[in-house]
Amino acid sequence: MVEYNEVLNVKSDMVIRMYTKVIKIDKDNIDEAALEDLKAAAALLQNGELVAFPTETVYGLGGDALREDAAKKIYAAKGRPSDNPLIVHVADIKQVEKIAKDIPDNAKALMERFWPGPLTIVFNKKECVPHGTTGGLNTVAVRMPNHNVARELIRISGVMLAAPSANLSGRPSPTCAEHVYEDMQERIPMIIDGGQVGIGLESTIVDVTDDRAMILRPGYITKEMLEEVIGEVAVDKAILNPQGSDYKPKAPGMKYRHYAPKADMTLFEGEAKSVIEYINNLTAECEKQGKRVGVIASDETIDKYDCKDVLSIGTREDEATIAHNLYYILRQFDEMNVDVIYSECFKDEKLGSAIMNRLKKAAGYKITKV
Ligand code: TXA
Ligand code: MG
Repeated sequence: MVEYNEVLNVKSDMVIRMYTKVIKIDKDNIDEAALEDLKAAAALLQNGELVAFPTETVYGLGGDALREDAAKKIYAAKGRPSDNPLIVHVADIKQVEKIAKDIPDNAKALMERFWPGPLTIVFNKKECVPHGTTGGLNTVAVRMPNHNVARELIRISGVMLAAPSANLSGRPSPTCAEHVYEDMQERIPMIIDGGQVGIGLESTIVDVTDDRAMILRPGYITKEMLEEVIGEVAVDKAILNPQGSDYKPKAPGMKYRHYAPKADMTLFEGEAKSVIEYINNLTAECEKQGKRVGVIASDETIDKYDCKDVLSIGTREDEATIAHNLYYILRQFDEMNVDVIYSECFKDEKLGSAIMNRLKKAAGYKITKV
């Protein structure tokens, strides 16, 4: 589908086809050769071009945050809807002062505690940030990534990077450079391959423009972790009850059916034993109809499924492993061309809230209680 972007007056299929260069950089060893490569990437960014780069959460598709023409290219390359704003990535606190009108005390405390890291903070924006970057909003979302390659790129280029996840709009976020290439080949001039990302889910977004801070998107930094630093934090109602109301999410991107695999996906909630039995029965039925089924299990349950295409998303003992593998698995099932995906559910608390938020979105909120 061709999306029309009202803010930037650009159509998502207005992409000039080009050669995409992939360069590899080891984040733990940025040597002379790597610095030369980063300079080449920086030159592209200084010219208003796009470069995809690794962060600790997912890969980002970066362009100069203060240039509307760069934002236009980002929206076009991703095929992103018009009202979905971009996160600005910075390498030091001084850069935040350039784009945020005010930095409230609670934000200062959060930056001190969690930056660099997977926390995005929404501020009132200064004039210099174009509406192209903020999707027409008067606020700007900012984060400092905890990844040497990302920060060096920002530092060397001197450019703050507006960067959404580097996937085509609606596809699972990329957690390795191969996945970026799948979606962005011939659409952007350069991808920096920094290997697999660490976390695997996008940053937590917290809005500090009202008196009480509010979570707009759950992520690796949980509500409890934020509250330890700044006291009570609200959660956008739209996250808790995305379907039950007309309530509009404060992070415009949260309303889209993001992160979706190509297959039709359903989640199953209930006692492990019942879920496994239910999924096994459904799988048998689907296979009779000639459909290929993919099952998302966990280390604890994988042996109990009859299905041949069953993958473990990680261990329930350590939810970080589940976050890490989530998008990777969705893309793997895409590659295997499964028609249907059945998935187990996980505890909807702490990091589990972010995991369930992404799984529910991937499934278009189809959940069966068994
Ligand atoms: O971990 C991440 O945050 C990754 C990496 C690349 O840093 N980026 C990322 O960007 O997930 P993206 O574009 O896929 O998601 C950005 C989200 C969207 O839901 C968008 O609506 C929200 O941030 N957002 C951006 N600016 C906002 C603003 N000013 N107010 C409210 N929400 C905003
Ligand atoms: Mg995204």
